[in-house]
Amino acid sequence: MDIEILKNEFIARYGEGDVAGYFSPGRVNLIGEHTDYNGGFVFPCALTFGTYCLIRKTTNSFFRFASLNLEQVEKIEPEAFTTPLKKGNWVNYPLGTIAQFVKRGLKISSGADILIAGNVPSGAGLSSSAALEVVTAVAINDTFGFGLEQLELVKMAQKAEHEFAGVNCGIMDQFASGMGKKDHAIFLNCDTLSYDLVPIKLDGVKIVIGNTNSPHSLDSGKYNERVTQCKAAVEAIKPYKNINSLAEISWDEFLKLEDKIADDVVKRRARHVVSEIKRTTDAVSELKAGNLEVFGSLMNGSHNSLRDDYEVTGNELDTMVDEARKIEGVIGSRMTGGGFGGSTVSLVKDEAVQNFIETVGKNYQEKTGLKPEFYV
Ligand code: GLA
Repeated sequence: MDIEILKNEFIARYGEGDVAGYFSPGRVNLIGEHTDYNGGFVFPCALTFGTYCLIRKTTNSFFRFASLNLEQVEKIEPEAFTTPLKKGNWVNYPLGTIAQFVKRGLKISSGADILIAGNVPSGAGLSSSAALEVVTAVAINDTFGFGLEQLELVKMAQKAEHEFAGVNCGIMDQFASGMGKKDHAIFLNCDTLSYDLVPIKLDGVKIVIGNTNSPHSLDSGKYNERVTQCKAAVEAIKPYKNINSLAEISWDEFLKLEDKIADDVVKRRARHVVSEIKRTTDAVSELKAGNLEVFGSLMNGSHNSLRDDYEVTGNELDTMVDEARKIEGVIGSRMTGGGFGGSTVSLVKDEAVQNFIETVGKNYQEKTGLKPEFYV
């Protein structure tokens, strides 16, 4: 996408004048899934795909929202800035973000016109919604001169998701979108928010994203159900060890305590989270030591745990991962993001990438009837 072309689109819609443009990326998570809202570690990278926000202050009181990707347009008066629109309306993401400024008592001194354009495939589990929230936060902060820090904006974007999309998500997606750097992954402690930017120099290996084209929908309630189950696990463990989150017990402690969790489903959810946090720290150490093969096998372990214990994969993601692992030159393959559809992420040796795309694509389509897409 070209910012000058987007500016012309803005002018065509809203009229002549200055236009400011902002960009925030989507993300792919390499490992550390469903750990963020448990105070654990994640390891996402920002993508080159992302969302643009073009904005201009006006002398009106209202905000106008339009998107090049979706037809729905909205005109919202200031008294309605903190009220969610109907469920499913895309404007809830930018509006929910603007609501966070209002709720902090920051005065939005005039109206504005906004045009959104993005190339993160939506429903692919690559955080198109977080990119939209973060880019709105950055654009509003700058346009109205609020001077908030980037980390503050990231937290406000997460709150928008909670309050206007009804998803009790962790901080990973908004953090990766707001803090990601080119050629790096972010090793983030979601409890303290301290992080390490780890260079991703993969000699002879590519990161290949496979979009199952089976849309994941986070607001299906299954995500929030997982959040609740993790809290139940914490409560079950508390009489034996005083913890506030699953990140506060080690894998060895968990093995001693797991029988205290009476509900088998809750126990399996906790087993995934605690083991995934260990896999994530191990994976980052292995990557830093140049042991890509071990990193890949930890990715495989992550998927298996998300499939068997956390139960967030489903037929499409499992089929794509199974097909990927059959290909010579695949170092590791797993689902990425919230699950229930969306995308996989695989480490693939350079010479195997073409065969990977053709063979996984063909076999996946034969088995599911869906045409996948791949991004290298
Ligand atoms: C979604 C959420 C994140 C995170 C992932 C799973 O992407 O928005 O906060 O929980 O699922 O790791």
